[in-house]
Amino acid sequence: MADTGTALGAPAERREGRDKVTGRARYAAEQTDPGRAHAWPVVAGIARGTIRTVDTGAALALPGVLAVLTHENAPRLAPADDPTLSVLQDGRVPHHGWFVGLVVGETLEAARVGAAAVRVEYDVEEHDVTLTVDHPEAYAPEEANGGFPARREQGDPESAFAAAEVRVDSHYRVPPLHNHPMEPHAATARWEGDRLVVHDSSQGATTVRATLASLFELSEDDVTVISEHVGGGFGSKGTPRPHVVLAVMAARETGRPVTVALPRRFLPAVVGHRAPTLHRLRLGATADGTLTSSLHEVTTYTSRIKEFVEQAAVPSRIMYAAPHRLSSHRVVPLDVPSPSWMRAPGEAPGMYVLESAMDELAVAAGLDPVELRITNEPDTEPDSGKPFSSRHLVDCLREGARRFDWAGRDPRPRSRAEGPLLVGTGVASATYPVMASPAQAEAHARPDGSFVVRINATDIGTGARTVLAQVAADALGVPLDRVRAEVGNSDLPSAPLAGGSSGTASWGWAVHEACTRLASTLAGHTGPLPESGFTAHADTAGTADADSPYARHAFGAHFAEVTVDTVTGEVRVRRLLGVYAAGHILNARTARSQFIGAMTMGLGMALTEGSTMDAASGDFVESDLAAYHVPAHADVPDIEAHWIDEDDPHLNPMGSKGIGEIGIVGTAAAIGNAVHHATGTRFRELPLTPDRVL
Ligand code: MOS
Repeated sequence: MADTGTALGAPAERREGRDKVTGRARYAAEQTDPGRAHAWPVVAGIARGTIRTVDTGAALALPGVLAVLTHENAPRLAPADDPTLSVLQDGRVPHHGWFVGLVVGETLEAARVGAAAVRVEYDVEEHDVTLTVDHPEAYAPEEANGGFPARREQGDPESAFAAAEVRVDSHYRVPPLHNHPMEPHAATARWEGDRLVVHDSSQGATTVRATLASLFELSEDDVTVISEHVGGGFGSKGTPRPHVVLAVMAARETGRPVTVALPRRFLPAVVGHRAPTLHRLRLGATADGTLTSSLHEVTTYTSRIKEFVEQAAVPSRIMYAAPHRLSSHRVVPLDVPSPSWMRAPGEAPGMYVLESAMDELAVAAGLDPVELRITNEPDTEPDSGKPFSSRHLVDCLREGARRFDWAGRDPRPRSRAEGPLLVGTGVASATYPVMASPAQAEAHARPDGSFVVRINATDIGTGARTVLAQVAADALGVPLDRVRAEVGNSDLPSAPLAGGSSGTASWGWAVHEACTRLASTLAGHTGPLPESGFTAHADTAGTADADSPYARHAFGAHFAEVTVDTVTGEVRVRRLLGVYAAGHILNARTARSQFIGAMTMGLGMALTEGSTMDAASGDFVESDLAAYHVPAHADVPDIEAHWIDEDDPHLNPMGSKGIGEIGIVGTAAAIGNAVHHATGTRFRELPLTPDRVL
């Protein structure tokens, strides 16, 4: 009867798809609580200083304006772990775009007009927003993000580099990048007596609940945070953001449900961005391409209020064998908005540089770039010496090369032209760490033969609901259509965020465990189930976060073909192909969507995306999608995503690795390497826009 074993891996359609395309799915700003008011923030127009005076009189006199909150009258918050959440608590302005007020109105329009009528005077101080390698305030932090040591050195990398037969010594720059999910950040908050109920567009409602409880000094039991449908996040919704704090404050002040829906142009300053990174990468090798030394030095910035160090040199610690290695991070605190998590933080910029430099080395040594990578395949993880739980990078490279017809490539740069177009192909490796965090889950069997699994997972558009039902059906040994997954509410069993490509592993682990227990209860039971059914619980604390003797990473290979227009400087991607080794693929349909979506982000990183910090104003120049260019359909070719099904027993009960971010990693390098192959010119600063290429 049961199609046991077929639920996992099946290309099941996402379950909320119909609700989304028919508009039935309700997002955080679309909660129509009776009496709901709207709020619009007032943002600082200076990059550094202190508020001298705030005049709210004109705003309060406007029709429909209910309240104006400023640092003078806003509710006091308990100290925040994350300083970006301490909004309206004092008159300091740490960066341009910082919230200095909030106007609550009967309508969105009233709130917006009210916000424009608030007059703020500042004592302005000189600001510095310019990142340079030799900035006098640059320092070496103890750790880069993710708890990685900021600096690692093994052997004698300087001497080994100096003695190498083939050398590459290059400087690269990755600009600031912005997440810009399709749904801007929004929250609707209402108080039910002393209970707080919040709809928030978040990647993880459990953390939002904990943070709001702490800031407003409530018991977590008195806070419910719902993130039922979320229109993407890409890291910008991975931690609570100030809009949700403002919504709760406004609801408390007015006694009304309040929605704060941030206009997109406010996002660049307040929900994080990828900090720019300046890289010096040196690779030394023997004439046959065997690496002897690798030195990856990263300089980045952080804000004045929070240390955030993009861990861009970390992938150099795991990719290739080289006996002498250095990887280091330095950071400069500036008067800039706080950077944060974005789309494969660390790996995306770090691997752009490492994989571009590997291509430089291949050219310098006269070697095929696929073979060069295979030559330097390590036996164990270079930095830690741990064995890999599984590493099929070579298989990905070979399979990709076969599918892409790499063997037919003429390696000489500028060897292919079609009229005014130069044509080139490039390759790069991809990697992303395997992570998991503890989660709780509940599985329930009903007398009618149906099952419900409950867990506060978040479906940010990935298909999490669907794949968790698949995990459950597989563990229960029942058909998929008998299982439903309830997610997206902090009243459900606690679970970590949808981030770090670890959601499915973390949640699926707990779901698998709860369902395995439930299945064994059911196996010991005869006759009909009691009216209340059976319930089983699981908590993977101590299991999912246990140290592993293995180095666990997903790997992949990206191949790109580009044309470069010698008249306009326009680069277009003609073909993009990825092959991944990421454990068992749990849903072939949603996995493919994850891969091609991420590769599209990599394409954006290579060709169109980039933010410019204006030194005079301290503001990002690109503040909407008319200026910050994410790839449009016409920019994206037919993308091919393939995978090698990996059997890795050292991961989790599903045998899966994360797949959300690896598609981004290395894609920009593959495209940049193809541009070099087409033109013979190495561009070392992204994005490869026509003004730069021509
Ligand atoms: Mo992702 S940047 O881990 O949400």
